[in-house]
Amino acid sequence: MESVTAAGCEDVFQFRISDVIAKKRDGLALSSQEIRCVVKSTMTGQVQDSQLGALLMAIRLRGMNPEETMTLTKEMVASGSVLTWPDEWSGWLVDKHSTGGVGDKISLPLAPALAACGCKVPMISGRGLGHTGGTLDKLESVPGFSSQQSPEQMLEILRSVGCCIVGQSADLVPADKIFYEMRDVTATVDSLPLITASVMSKKVAESLSALILDVKFGEAAQSSTIGDAKSLANSLVSVGVSLGIPTMAVITNMDSPIGRCVGNSLEVIEALECLEGTGHDDLRELVTRTGGYLLWLCGQADSETKGTEKIAKVLGDGSALECFRKMMEAQGVQPDIARSLSSSSTFRTASHIEELLVQRTGTVEFIKARPIAEILNTLGAGRSKATDVINHSIGAEILVRIGQHVEQGSPWIRIHYENPLLQDKQRQILQNALWISDRPVFKPPSLIRDVIHSQGTKEEIVPLRREGEIN
Ligand code: URA
Repeated sequence: MESVTAAGCEDVFQFRISDVIAKKRDGLALSSQEIRCVVKSTMTGQVQDSQLGALLMAIRLRGMNPEETMTLTKEMVASGSVLTWPDEWSGWLVDKHSTGGVGDKISLPLAPALAACGCKVPMISGRGLGHTGGTLDKLESVPGFSSQQSPEQMLEILRSVGCCIVGQSADLVPADKIFYEMRDVTATVDSLPLITASVMSKKVAESLSALILDVKFGEAAQSSTIGDAKSLANSLVSVGVSLGIPTMAVITNMDSPIGRCVGNSLEVIEALECLEGTGHDDLRELVTRTGGYLLWLCGQADSETKGTEKIAKVLGDGSALECFRKMMEAQGVQPDIARSLSSSSTFRTASHIEELLVQRTGTVEFIKARPIAEILNTLGAGRSKATDVINHSIGAEILVRIGQHVEQGSPWIRIHYENPLLQDKQRQILQNALWISDRPVFKPPSLIRDVIHSQGTKEEIVPLRREGEIN
């Protein structure tokens, strides 16, 4: 293959993609210049699909060291534009990223709660694919809500409200779109350095003062073991810190659904309960503690505990709810709808609502999230391919909590469905998702199982881990 001088690469550097593929195939580290040329020449169409696929597979099999991963992240950021903010917002710009889960509506109360504490939250979120939900799908169940906001509109919303939740624009990290589409069809999605560069490039392009990552593990998470989740968290935190963003991660369990609802409009209703200071304990804990860590990390609270108290306060006094309503209005929702979101007329209700009953008396040991999410997806709550259309009213309310006593014959889950109808086989799978034991009632453990963080200087690449800090 002929060598090419990739646009933007130094003239003297003759870049041959086949050499780079061979180098990574043989387990060698790529130089910064080689990584820069891979990204630049991919953007200019000089790399063939087969070559990009081969390189991604070589990275998937051989890995990348922290230096390579950081360089790839930086070069991906440089493939597009970067959001810029007024200087006086420095120290206040925060965001959160979750690796995805079932019933994961944390962003919905968290962004306005942080805004109510004075932060600026330019939250860029995604859509659901497979069994995990997406924040944008949930918000789009609110009539009129628009996730498409230009950088200028984002700036204006942050000025007037303090937070926005938007989709990624085409000019932010365009290399990620090309890489991700290729990863999707070459079985290279689960590569740790590629996930790290993909997630962190988009966060770096937001020009943040602090970032928290919710890295989930368990049956319904991308990482099945806590060890895998910690490896991913370490990689993400390392890159964030080395690129100058104070970053930390919470490692959270994702075996059972978060909170009591799964499904787009039901999850918005549940998020509103949290914003009204009520709702399920595990959702509230995740919102207050991730928010608390973030306030501490960006220097706006003296400790994580003080940060958590600040978030609890704005959830209790209505100011977070007010920010949420203003964000809804600023993103296209009619004022009367934004003001009456919790009323039953805002969201369309599914035509069929059915309760399943507990089959034997005992203690709720476990509620398996994955089968519940998979069945709801086949009923229309989610997508199996990017072009599938979602029915926002499909979902489930879980009427019992882990650790509680339940009586045979009492309802434990309420399924909202339309067309297709719920089948007997699916009812059986749902029944098997509820595990009842004979042990006495118990308090379930916190979903936060560990915290990974760094004090965050530009030079510091290896994060400190505070093991055992959290139960
Ligand atoms: N995994 C990725 O690789 N990129 C994302 O943006 C999210 C998950």
